[in-house]
Amino acid sequence: MNTAIIVAAGSGQRFSASQPKQFVNVLGKPLIVHTLERFEACPSIDNIVLVLSEEGRDDFERIDARQKVTKLQPIVIGGDTRADSVQKGFHTIDNGAANIIAVHDGARPMVTVAEITRTIEAADKVGAACLVAEVTDTIKRVNRRFISATVDRQRLRRALTPQAFKYDVLKRAYESNDLNETLTDECMLVERLGVKIAFVEGSRRNIKITLMEDLILAAAFLKDL
Ligand code: CTP
Ligand code: MG
Repeated sequence: MNTAIIVAAGSGQRFSASQPKQFVNVLGKPLIVHTLERFEACPSIDNIVLVLSEEGRDDFERIDARQKVTKLQPIVIGGDTRADSVQKGFHTIDNGAANIIAVHDGARPMVTVAEITRTIEAADKVGAACLVAEVTDTIKRVNRRFISATVDRQRLRRALTPQAFKYDVLKRAYESNDLNETLTDECMLVERLGVKIAFVEGSRRNIKITLMEDLILAAAFLKDL
């Protein structure tokens, strides 16, 4: 059984709209529904654990998306940070039946079924896998006021989601790390275990909706999926 944990319990401070970005309508449906549909359509995913805020859960029940997302498990209420929300989702998964856990940002609706499938396949082989995108700009290192160096971008990748792990790898990562520090993804925890993490080349279209202007790209990319 492969399970997706989709985290969408954030409040969208940078998006600065009256409602959290995951519930904003794009091409006639809330952003979170687009994201859920990708995982519903992916044959490598058996279950979906959706993590929302309490308010978000009420909003979600109102939009009545359950019939369309048959893999959906009971909604989990998230925590203060993204990392807390993922961990809360993880703790609801029955370890007896668990195989691969794929963690995904609800705010990334442009993920494709092929990206999810390839990331899960890599995690199945290696133990852990992260979808990435190449870096296309020239990258500079800076000190306080000036540029100090140019970084070789051939060896850099931007971490996207999904990030997928064998259940036991993620469990061990949680057991052996202090979650009070700032964590921006689950790979960071697994890197410290010394476990190899495969990278899977993904599309630069798989952006995380962060600012209001990202919706312009989202509408164009979703139309073209
Ligand atoms: N997330 C979450 N629980 C939190 C914070 C974030 O589940 N306490 C989720 C968001 O809903 C989003 C994903 O993690 O789908 C990536 O986070 P981000 O883009 O930072 O979203 P927000 O935290 O909502 O936005 P901001 O940081 O601008 O407030
Ligand atoms: Mg955030």
